[in-house]
Amino acid sequence: MDIINELPEKRFNELDDLLAFISIYDDDNRTRAYMEMLNQNRRKIKNKVCVEAGCGFGLISEYMAQLGAKKVYAVEMNPQLFQIARQRLCQYSNVELIYADILDFKPNEKVDVLVHELFGQMLYDEDIYTLDRLQFNPQLVLPDKAVLMGGCINSGELVDETVTPEIIQKLNGALVSGLFDDEEMELTFPIVPWQFDKCHYDTICDISSQEGDLLYMGLHILHNEQVICRAGECSNWSYIWTPRCGNRFSLSFKPSSRGTQVFFDWLK
Ligand SMILES: C[S@@+](CC[C@H](N)C(=O)[O-])C[C@H]1O[C@@H](n2cnc3c(N)ncnc32)[C@H](O)[C@@H]1O
Repeated sequence: MDIINELPEKRFNELDDLLAFISIYDDDNRTRAYMEMLNQNRRKIKNKVCVEAGCGFGLISEYMAQLGAKKVYAVEMNPQLFQIARQRLCQYSNVELIYADILDFKPNEKVDVLVHELFGQMLYDEDIYTLDRLQFNPQLVLPDKAVLMGGCINSGELVDETVTPEIIQKLNGALVSGLFDDEEMELTFPIVPWQFDKCHYDTICDISSQEGDLLYMGLHILHNEQVICRAGECSNWSYIWTPRCGNRFSLSFKPSSRGTQVFFDWLK
């Protein structure tokens, strides 16, 4: 979904974010996996103070309220999504909806549980970096880990009349989402991890042991070392593709006021 006409910048950004984020609710696998994770942790949520960083439609905060949380702070900074969440959450006396950037949120009480889903397709290319700079220290973070994984394949297995070998060659140095259908291809090696309080914004990856002239990347989200969401299975996270131009590459992320910049280079 794209906005076609010119709008004032603030309004454009608000609506652009709204349209980007509502598409996550087409991904039932993602939402189901999150609900299941909450259900498995229901004893750690009941009677506890919980925060949802970026509550979107408010589904997750609603479920934590239903699981008996003592208090749920549902924090959302997009005004349009905040209004949608308000309609859903206003019936729960144990939910406080907060219109704020999670970076500015400073609760007056100890936070037991933080739930978040701020992962980009390349892991760090959305808002996960904000969890590095919180003004509170949650005891439990759900989910607690994610890894950007990689795989290599011979492009001959995938090329067709549209995405030809010539087209692939021209993409040298570019990371492209949606180049091929996400066919649940196996992600075989880790590229860069995330854990709460342990962001890795720069990495160098050596793929000399891998075979194939096409590199693809995709996200695994884990809790307690179990994968709960993976690119390909969850439509919210696509595979990212690039022609292989060497055995080592660098990947780095630079958070900025609107999203995070991604830098990618093949190394000699
Ligand atoms: C991918 S959506 C997830 C929504 C919800 N947590 C869920 O899983 O259904 C991310 C949400 O976080 C919000 N968000 C992103 N960065 C934020 C920040 N720094 N502070 C507050 N909300 C933020 C976005 O507006 C969006 O609603």
